[in-house]
Amino acid sequence: MATPKKLISGNGSVSCLSELLTEMNLKRPFLVIDPKVRQSNFGRIFEDFFGESFDDFGTNPTFLQVNNGACLLRKEKYDSIIAVGGGSAIDLAKIIGLTAINGGVAEDYFRDKKAKIQSVPLVAIPTTCGTGAESSPFAVIMDPNIPKKRGIESIFFMPTAVILDPQSLISLDKVMIAATGMDAFTHILESHISRKATALTRIVSKGLLCSVREPLEDALVKKDISALEKLQSIAFTARLLYPRTGLSIAHALSHPLGAFTGMHHGLAVVTFLEASMKFNLADCEASFYEAEKVMGLPSGDGLLSWIRSIIEESGMAEEISNNLSLFGNLSVKRIALEALQSSNIPSNPRELGLLETCKIINESLFIFGR
Ligand SMILES: [Fe+2]
Repeated sequence: MATPKKLISGNGSVSCLSELLTEMNLKRPFLVIDPKVRQSNFGRIFEDFFGESFDDFGTNPTFLQVNNGACLLRKEKYDSIIAVGGGSAIDLAKIIGLTAINGGVAEDYFRDKKAKIQSVPLVAIPTTCGTGAESSPFAVIMDPNIPKKRGIESIFFMPTAVILDPQSLISLDKVMIAATGMDAFTHILESHISRKATALTRIVSKGLLCSVREPLEDALVKKDISALEKLQSIAFTARLLYPRTGLSIAHALSHPLGAFTGMHHGLAVVTFLEASMKFNLADCEASFYEAEKVMGLPSGDGLLSWIRSIIEESGMAEEISNNLSLFGNLSVKRIALEALQSSNIPSNPRELGLLETCKIINESLFIFGR
């Protein structure tokens, strides 16, 4: 498994950034920071380090924004990138680095151009508890012309160093803690039930399933700092698994839904989580019920009930329903067809085609009152 070379974690660990830059001999870092995070107390820490920064992007960054960032990096001769934010900011920073160093425009790498040169060092500082982008060789970007979210894998995408500081999560509201925490949980569960799971990956995913319930519940009830710290570590470790295991139909569907609606990735994943698990259960009973057991949930429907209670009690149900209502004419068939092209389909436990995928979408819409 590829991993970042350096990991610094713990409450207040962001204070090590200056020391880390000196140790890595980086003198001119380019700050890519989520605009909302920049306004938070955690984001203001970075004003002491940087003058100019790049924050001209939203929830779903586009090729244009990548190319603008790459131009700046080349023009100003920055020697590294520091990405502060959720998956969007970190993925954007990865593609900016790749494009700036290897030339051309970002779109080239999503066609057939191969990057040959290592990007400048990337220090990732995630500010959500679920993305795992900081430990992943993948990056996703929005192509607004189609519109479609497109992802690629590159060995040059793995960040050089990661700082996991739970202080970065303090300003998240309950829905965002739930959405990003459940995204991390879904990475673990989908890895565990994956058709491509191995004995080794199941040992890791089983351990993560044992550990995830308590900090997720504590983080939602009282925003406990030690719970947030545990969630960050779990999200980081979970993401290391799925270049090996792949994910499932819930993640495959989340990308087209996110592209069409602009919905946050974690909420889009949760939209399909229950219906996709019910569909898959027949072909992954042993691993699904093992997950239920190690999480300390009642056997039978304990896991599905737990998922439902987190969705309801965190406020995610209302948020998803509101998001879906803005797009009353969502094309079920179009979302299904795009999802079926996803690299996560071969690892889905149960075989499925257009009919089954449309059924999962319709059931999900029904669950959220649409
Ligand atoms: Fe995800």
